Amino acid sequence: MADQKKSDKIKSAVREHYAQAIINKGGCCGPNLQTFDPDAAGRFVAMAGYTPDELKGLPEDVTTFGCGNPVALAQVAEGETVLDLGSGAGLDLILAAKKVGPTGRVIGLDMTPEMIETCRKNLERAGVTNGEVRMGEMEAMPVDDAEIDWIISNCVINLSPEKEKVFAESFRVLKPGGRLMVSDIVTIDLPEEYRDDLAAWAGCIAGAVSEEAYVELARRAGFVDVEIIEKLVYNEATIGALANESCGCSGSESNLNDAALAKYANRVASVKVSARKP
Ligand SMILES: C[S@@+](CC[C@H](N)C(=O)[O-])C[C@H]1O[C@@H](n2cnc3c(N)ncnc32)[C@H](O)[C@@H]1O
Repeated sequence: MADQKKSDKIKSAVREHYAQAIINKGGCCGPNLQTFDPDAAGRFVAMAGYTPDELKGLPEDVTTFGCGNPVALAQVAEGETVLDLGSGAGLDLILAAKKVGPTGRVIGLDMTPEMIETCRKNLERAGVTNGEVRMGEMEAMPVDDAEIDWIISNCVINLSPEKEKVFAESFRVLKPGGRLMVSDIVTIDLPEEYRDDLAAWAGCIAGAVSEEAYVELARRAGFVDVEIIEKLVYNEATIGALANESCGCSGSESNLNDAALAKYANRVASVKVSARKP
């Protein structure tokens, strides 16, 4: 019971944080993808692995709160169905829609109504006709059994206080042979007492687990070929880009200040994880 209360509290803080982040987009939140500048606002976009070519011609409101570019590495084929867990403003859905083509489908899932509204507008403006966004939680997905060929996700599973459920649900909705390709945050010897800070949780840090625990969660749900295929450790210079530029909103009250962030330097990394349902 106490655990359920704690989970609910974390989820509400996360929902509130991302609602504010997308409402404030244009003011202070989310890198501007149109001015791809690796030295300034766009530094996180470059670190995440998006290329100027991929971002060319996107509608103005599309931004990223992610920590990688899962679509780039997923070998998604034409005609397939892709599910994006925590689809945010829709950037990865738009990129995936290009890969699956008109005979495929992309489905976004998000629990924050403000994000869903923006994502729907962005899909429409980007001319995506084979996509939809569903309101719901990744711990209980509004998705049929074996409906999906690929699950992608960008900096979202770390935010869940119930990660076993997320992996079990991912396994359920994939077709046999279906694949998972996620960018996410893992921790490196993070002291337990650092995990109680809700701002750090919403900033994609405090809820993350170690690389070993992440792989074990996927294996325990039934996944095979679970592999960490890329890893980038955040140091003092880049930890702020993760917590406040990507998973946050520069200038927002729910962000962490430099002093609060320093203790997380070299203790978190972004990874790309691939896995397969047998
Ligand atoms: C860090 S942002 C990433 C958004 C997007 N993937 C991107 O790359 O820009 C996290 C997103 O996941 C959503 N989210 C967080 N926890 C969730 C959950 N348990 N179920 C569904 N969506 C969730 C938030 O509402 C937010 O839109």
